[in-house]
Amino acid sequence: MTSTKIERIGIMTGGGDCPGLNAVIRAVVLKSLKLGWKVFGIEDATEGLIDLDYRSPFGNRWLGPEHVDQILTKGGTILGTSNRSDPFRYVVEQDGKKVETDVSDRLVANYKKLELDALISVGGDGSMKIAQQLGELGLRVVGVPKTIDQDLGATDYTFGFNTAVQTATNAIDRLQDTAASHDRVMMLEVMGRNAGWIALFAAMAGGAHVCLIPEIPYRIGPIVEAIKGRRKSGAPFSIVVVAEGAKPHEGEQSLAGPQELGAMPKLFGAAFKLAAALEPHLKLDVRVTVLGHIQRGGSPTQFDRILGTRFGAAAVDAVAAGKFGHMVALRTPTIELVPIDEALANERRVDPVGQLVQTAKDVDICFGD
Ligand code: F6P
Repeated sequence: MTSTKIERIGIMTGGGDCPGLNAVIRAVVLKSLKLGWKVFGIEDATEGLIDLDYRSPFGNRWLGPEHVDQILTKGGTILGTSNRSDPFRYVVEQDGKKVETDVSDRLVANYKKLELDALISVGGDGSMKIAQQLGELGLRVVGVPKTIDQDLGATDYTFGFNTAVQTATNAIDRLQDTAASHDRVMMLEVMGRNAGWIALFAAMAGGAHVCLIPEIPYRIGPIVEAIKGRRKSGAPFSIVVVAEGAKPHEGEQSLAGPQELGAMPKLFGAAFKLAAALEPHLKLDVRVTVLGHIQRGGSPTQFDRILGTRFGAAAVDAVAAGKFGHMVALRTPTIELVPIDEALANERRVDPVGQLVQTAKDVDICFGD
C-alpha cells in the first residue's frame, strides 16, 4: 500500500476543542507506531510548529503508547488547541499595537528541522484552509474534520456533534421539569454559528416547542402564537431552543462587540434578545439558560469515539498512500478521502424546506417563520 516513504509524522489539533479529538490522536499514534513511524505531537495547533520551544518542556513531544493510553474517553485534546494561530495572519504586537503578519516561513523551516514527512491536521474549516495553504508551500498534509457545529458538507458527520447534541438534549430534559412545574417559558441557547444543526437535533430529541436557527430568520408573531396556543390547549409552559447564530427577520446576529484581530466574531445574547422581545407579549415568566462551552466538553459518546478512531486510522492510511491535500470524510458507511479544497467549498446548512424541518413542524415545533 505504501507509495511514499514515511518515517516521521506530526499531528496537531486546531480550532475549538470538541469531544472525540483524543480518539483521533490515539488512533493516529497506535496505527503509526505499528507501521514503525514516529509521531510528533504539536502543541496548540500551529503554535508548536511556529515556535518549537513553545511551552517547553510541557508542549511539543514525541508520542508513545503511554501518552494515548486512557485518553479515548476524555474530552478536549491532549495536544491543546487554538483558534487564533493562523500562520498566514499571525497576530503580533508592534509598537504597542496588534498587527497581522505572515510567519508561515518559520513553520515550514521547523517542519523541515524536525524532518517530518507528513502532517495530520485535525480541525474545522479554518484549520482545513490553513492545511491547504501549507500544502501549497510544499508541506504534505492530510486533514481530519472536526466541529460540533456539523457544518462541513464533505462529510456526513463530524465527531463532537453527537456528544454536543446529547448534552443539549439532557439540558432540555432538565428544563422541561422546571418549565412544567412553574408554568414558564424556558429558553436554551445552544451553539451553532451559521448552522442550526445542534439546535434542530436537540429540539427534536428533547421535545421542544420552538426552535430558532440561523437558516430560518424568525418573526415574533408566530412564536407568540405557538406559546399562547399551547397555553389555550392546556399546556401552560414552553421550551424554546435558540441557536447562538439565530437572527430576527430583517435583523442581524447578536454579537458581543467589535471583532478582535485574528479571532472570529463573538456571538452573544441571541436568547436574551429574543426573551426581551417576547416578554411583553406573554403573561408568563421567561428564563434563559445559555449552554455555551458545556457543549464542547465532556466524555465523547460511543458514536464520536468510533468516528474519531475511524478518522484517525484513515488519516494514517491516507499518509501511507501519499494522498496529501486530502481530508478524511464519512460517506456512510465508509470513510473516504476528499480533496481539501472541495471540502472547503461545501458548507452544510439546515435546509429550511427539507425533510428534517418538515418532520419537526409535523410534531408542532415552531421555527418562527
Ligand atoms: O465552531 C464551534 C463553536 O463552538 C461555535 O459554535 C462557537 O461560536 C465558537 O466555537 C465559540 O468559540 P470560542 O471557543 O472561541 O468561544
